[in-house]
Amino acid sequence: MKRFEPIAKGVSGILHGGDYNPEQWLKWKDGIWKEDLRIAKEAGLNSLSVGIFSWAMLEPEEGRFCFDWLDEVMDGLHKNGLTAVLATPSGARPAWLAQKYPEVLRVRADGHRNAFGGRHNHCLSSQVYRAKVKIINTELARRYGKHPALGLWHISNEYSGECHCPLCQAVFREYLRAKYGSLEALNEAWWSAFWSHRYTDFAQIEAPSPRGENDTHGLTLDWKRFTTEQTVDFYLHEIGPLKACAPQIPCTTNLMAGYTGLDYARLAEVLDVVSWDNYPQWTGSSEKDEQIALETGYFHDLMYGLKKKPFLLMESSPSATNWRPVAKLHRPGVHILQSLQAIAHGADSVQYFQMRKGRGGSEKFHGAVIDHVGHENTRVFGEIKKFGREILPQLDHIVGAPKPAKVALVHDYVNGWAIEGMRGALQGETGYTKTLMAHYGAFWRQGVPVEIIDQGASLEGYALVVAPMSYMLREGFADRVKAYVEGGGRFVTSYFSGYVNDTDLCFLGGFPGPLKEVLGIWAEELDALYPGDENAICWNGKQYRAFELCELIHAQGAEALGSYAGDFYAGRPALTAMTLGKGKAYYIAARTGADFLDDFYQSLLGELKLPAYPGGGGLSVQIRAHEKGETLFVINFGAQERLFKLDGEEIPVEAHGFALIERKS
Ligand code: GLA
Ligand code: ZN
Repeated sequence: MKRFEPIAKGVSGILHGGDYNPEQWLKWKDGIWKEDLRIAKEAGLNSLSVGIFSWAMLEPEEGRFCFDWLDEVMDGLHKNGLTAVLATPSGARPAWLAQKYPEVLRVRADGHRNAFGGRHNHCLSSQVYRAKVKIINTELARRYGKHPALGLWHISNEYSGECHCPLCQAVFREYLRAKYGSLEALNEAWWSAFWSHRYTDFAQIEAPSPRGENDTHGLTLDWKRFTTEQTVDFYLHEIGPLKACAPQIPCTTNLMAGYTGLDYARLAEVLDVVSWDNYPQWTGSSEKDEQIALETGYFHDLMYGLKKKPFLLMESSPSATNWRPVAKLHRPGVHILQSLQAIAHGADSVQYFQMRKGRGGSEKFHGAVIDHVGHENTRVFGEIKKFGREILPQLDHIVGAPKPAKVALVHDYVNGWAIEGMRGALQGETGYTKTLMAHYGAFWRQGVPVEIIDQGASLEGYALVVAPMSYMLREGFADRVKAYVEGGGRFVTSYFSGYVNDTDLCFLGGFPGPLKEVLGIWAEELDALYPGDENAICWNGKQYRAFELCELIHAQGAEALGSYAGDFYAGRPALTAMTLGKGKAYYIAARTGADFLDDFYQSLLGELKLPAYPGGGGLSVQIRAHEKGETLFVINFGAQERLFKLDGEEIPVEAHGFALIERKS
């Protein structure tokens, strides 16, 4: 197998760096800038990210550019063998721009325009903003597109939020006109006869807001889809000049773990590489940290799945995260585990926020490579250096290596929006992500790699596809599931699946709608339980807790494997299996705890004979498949030593320790 290509130009190993803001230290540059470079090398960094919020320093007045300082920074990086991740500065705009052109500022859902301040406070539809972004991006691309330090473009920062200004409302109406063609089609898709909401003119349509219409589900979904499309369009606008001057340099924008305001699966289509910012809330308590490790693993896999390719860990804190309600320090060793975990799940970089703590500003107490004391003799630096100098050099062969996953977990942003907006069951607290993480946990504990995909992705090549709470079935998904099962795949879904179509209209003729035949069931009613109330599922001679959501289903072709123990639906099916073609489709009718999910998935994994590396007690095993074989990342997030069993051997992994195991192919 050929060695995989590294993502950023100029770095052959895992990218190791972080957000660097030398412009905050212009006056001290003779001392501080030199120290920054020296300390970066001392830590084993090979890259730094610059220019992320530098617009006011690059264009201090409209049309007057000041690149001298950035020239010096870029040259300094190059001379010191460091690769530059260079940002476009659109994440925050200069005061002069907002003052002269107020239309660039964002309008909130309450109809008020924001004042200058903060960041991410701009309108993506404003032609003025777009023109100004194009100018500064073109200047950057012309000046640095061929600079030998340049390895990667970092577009803006954490695209997020929405704007309700008249310009955005107008573009939204155009989006709807193009999507539906006619008001009649739109009215039908949005079920607008309800509460007399029929639109007779596109001009009557406003973005959903608390001061107006907030509960027409088709409208809300289309607004979210539109916000994603505007962001995609803005991103393409941003990269235009960069690609023109430097087509060889990849582009990314940094995403956020649990952010659901954008359909990242759509945004990822236009990124050369996915990157994201990871700030797990480690507690220092072993039990809680095991759960945090699982959730963080889930988010890494979510990011990997967006392109089914290695990604970059664009930001992480080497210690405290200042915006958390409790900015607890990372305990000794946590930095290394957190960083290795990212690589284990498919990251080709470990990057920090931030290189040096600022003297002022709201992030002056956020963890950093260099603290206010100014030198490198700190505990945190010691951990970064250990990671950079001792551990990373062992991982050069991992760069670009994929993860060999045979299990797919379906997470769909649009389905998540529909679940969040639905009125009924548990009123928007229906717990989509929580449920996905619960199912994910059963594989995480077994050391079985999982790829997280959306409903639009191909199902080919997976031995098992798990799609809990597929409330909305997007166009084409049910057909793909059917073909997959008929072709020999195993498919698992759960209660609350197959209720609505793309525009949130209920399927008629019985749930789970177009999946009824594949699953061989009819879900007649959905029971929501009060907190503390419980039912149980009897399966395989055992009884498992069922709570929160219990669906009353009929087996219509499927075999009932398990049944309810209590309430007026005692004895009715709670777990079914349908044989279709060469495959099988399972339905779990109620929400259960990890006990049931562990047992159920272990029995399936056993039948499928998929390789598993069970850890337990906070021991996580992830795999990357490279040119010479596989690397097993065995990471112990627990406070006890664990024995990892491999081919009859027992390998001790100390508390908060790890083992990297090479297996030849
Ligand atoms: C985000 C941002 C950074 C910084 C960090 C702090 O991820 O992208 O600019 O604010 O948070 O944790
Ligand atoms: Zn706007």
